[in-house]
Amino acid sequence: MKQQEILKIESLKKSYESGQPVLKDVFFTLEKGEVVVVVGPSGCGKSTFLRCINMLEPIDSGTLQFKDQVIDRNSRDVYEIRQKIGMVFQSYDLFPHKTIMGNILLAPLKVQNRDKKEVTAEAEKLLERVGLLDKRDAYPRQLSGGQKQRVAIVRALMMHPEILLLDEITAALDPEMVREVLQVVLELAKDGMTMVIVTHEMEFAKAVADRVLFMDQGVIVEESRPEEFFTSPKTDRAKQFLNTFHYEAI
Ligand SMILES: Nc1ncnc2c1ncn2[C@@H]1O[C@H](COP(=O)(O)OP(=O)(O)OP(=O)(O)O)[C@@H](O)[C@H]1O
Ligand SMILES: [Mg+2]
Repeated sequence: MKQQEILKIESLKKSYESGQPVLKDVFFTLEKGEVVVVVGPSGCGKSTFLRCINMLEPIDSGTLQFKDQVIDRNSRDVYEIRQKIGMVFQSYDLFPHKTIMGNILLAPLKVQNRDKKEVTAEAEKLLERVGLLDKRDAYPRQLSGGQKQRVAIVRALMMHPEILLLDEITAALDPEMVREVLQVVLELAKDGMTMVIVTHEMEFAKAVADRVLFMDQGVIVEESRPEEFFTSPKTDRAKQFLNTFHYEAI
């Protein structure tokens, strides 16, 4: 593994119990501070790919290497590494009966056994940064979708992840709330956070990505710089995909 590499995936294969392979033979390397955006048609395996990176899914074969630790299908102790790889989903999954602060502090206190004063101060700083400090004592139902999603990002950041995985985090939001969430992600990118992002927001992808992966049917078909991918995709499949987007946008 080269020095700047933080994650390396080799020959990853994954199928669900129901049969068909979902990821066929995926090779992928991520460098520290890099932002990779994954795009591709519905059902091509993007979420599965992120879930495998985060070790939420057992893999059939291949290896994942996080820094100097190699993980294969027989590895048991993935718990510690999973804490280093944060993930935010489309549905924010906040606990409804806990306040915003309660939601954010839960894992740092219970899982990481950190000091309450210290984590509270950190949480306040992060809430301030995403413009939600005044909501600290509110309950999730009192927040808009965009606000909840920003809380979910703060919750993930509290674990001090070395990689952040974002799976269509704006897909369930009304258009006017999309921007405020993407703005937070753009700022994280500027600060050097290493991220793998699945999104259907192509303008955002263009702005945030260092590299774009185009997936289709469980294979990484193309891997290019955003300006290259969006202006002159190499494969017909990618061209077709981008065209569909164009029509959907109209
Ligand atoms: N838990 C599961 N059990 C069985 N099959 C699954 C499971 N999760 C996903 N699949 C199947 O794996 C394939 C890839 O799904 P995945 O969710 O990774 O796609 P995706 O690219 O994220 O799609 P979308 O853009 O719609 O979110 C699909 O055919 C899906 O039906
Ligand atoms: Mg998905």
